[in-house]
Amino acid sequence: MVKIRRATSGDFDAIWELEKTTFGEETEESLKRALKSRTFVYFVMIDDDEIIGYAGLNELLGEAEILTIMIEKSHRQQGYGKMMLEKLLSHAKNNGAEKIFLEVDEHNSVANKLYSSFGFKELMRRENYYLYKDGSKADAIIMSKKLV
Ligand SMILES: CC(C)(COP(=O)(O)OP(=O)(O)OC[C@H]1O[C@@H](n2cnc3c(N)ncnc32)[C@H](O)[C@@H]1OP(=O)(O)O)[C@@H](O)C(=O)NCCC(=O)NCCS
Repeated sequence: MVKIRRATSGDFDAIWELEKTTFGEETEESLKRALKSRTFVYFVMIDDDEIIGYAGLNELLGEAEILTIMIEKSHRQQGYGKMMLEKLLSHAKNNGAEKIFLEVDEHNSVANKLYSSFGFKELMRRENYYLYKDGSKADAIIMSKKLV
């Protein structure tokens, strides 16, 4: 059975491997800084001693922001993304957050569907925020959800 626990600095290599194969946006340094940050909270999902997903949250003054959430490719579509999102929401709520935000690429239909199914609503768009290697652009959608 999978479990979710707080990430430690010892998880860096496994998280870095996931990050490289998924987004490829972070640098090693920025990821190390993020994992050490006092306001960021990271979780890892473990299956048979293997890290199969990770997620991060920024908590500040009654609000929380989802920094990232990802599940390793071969473990997707088994409900683990939902479990991870539930963990982030309950952690933020238990720590006093009244509202939670996130940013998602308009073309990331899987993530958009996941967030909508949890009641996240579009708040605003940052037009042409993402720039891809092929020169195409995509809007960032900022979504929010009340926790109280
Ligand atoms: C987004 C992500 C975390 C979902 O993880 P997952 O473990 O596959 O998700 P789940 O199995 O829990 O599915 C949750 C919901 O996501 C949606 N979903 C998942 N896979 C989907 C697919 N291939 N097509 C359409 N919707 C899909 C569905 O709404 C699903 O709920 P349902 O099964 O009740 O219909 C995963 O696809 C991932 O890591 N993607 C790359 C990183 C990323 O884009 N992160 C989000 C950045 S904002």
